[in-house]
Amino acid sequence: MHAFARHHHDPSDATTLKTKGLVLNQSWRYDLTLWYSDMFLFRGQLRQMWRRAVTLAGLQPGAQVLDVGCGTGTLALEVQRTVGTTGHVCGIDPGTQQIARARAKATQRHLPTDFQVGVIEQIPFPDQTFDVVFSTLMMHHLGQNLKRQGLAEIARVLKPGGRLIIADFKRKQERQGRAAHFHAGGSSMTDLAILVQAAGLTQVTTEDLPALRFSAFPGAGFICACKS
Ligand SMILES: C[S@@+](CC[C@H](N)C(=O)[O-])C[C@H]1O[C@@H](n2cnc3c(N)ncnc32)[C@H](O)[C@@H]1O
Repeated sequence: MHAFARHHHDPSDATTLKTKGLVLNQSWRYDLTLWYSDMFLFRGQLRQMWRRAVTLAGLQPGAQVLDVGCGTGTLALEVQRTVGTTGHVCGIDPGTQQIARARAKATQRHLPTDFQVGVIEQIPFPDQTFDVVFSTLMMHHLGQNLKRQGLAEIARVLKPGGRLIIADFKRKQERQGRAAHFHAGGSSMTDLAILVQAAGLTQVTTEDLPALRFSAFPGAGFICACKS
């Protein structure tokens, strides 16, 4: 049995998973909302953000990958295609409906991606399991302490040489133009980068995905870091 399978939470545990993070449980409605927003409001910039996150990861076929706060699994399924069937991709999220939807999508697409109910503050995998960990649009769902705890957990499950890729909406104050008035959440990329460094990760770099003109996309930031 693969290490992934050995360390799964028992699904019957799902209701006991508590978190102070903002949990979503919208299933297909989440996908529909994102699709609608990206198509009609964001001018495709959400998809562009996910694609850029995958590029920044420099994924190799056969890689072991974790998507923390995977929601309905869109990114994880894309990543599975990139790493092929020799790679192992796992997504965790405390939203049981999000995980059910992600599993249904994996089955529909005949992909072996492994989706589990789980939280960032207690990642259900052993030390040094993953080559790459993704966190997209989820850091703004966590308070400061939870971010710290979660980043320490990510550092623990990354292999030496492994990479963390964070993508998130930027905090309101860091946006410009129309985008500054649109999305309520968002992370301060500067603060986040400091927390990533404090978790012991190195080579921390940041990058921007600015909002396009005539797009309601609030602008996103990326943080890349390594475990030495
Ligand atoms: C806006 S969604 C992003 C989902 C997905 N990563 C994406 O890019 O579409 C944020 C997700 O973070 C999850 N979340 C909230 N608290 C969490 C925690 N403590 N650990 C892991 N995920 C959490 C929510 O349930 C939600 O599905």
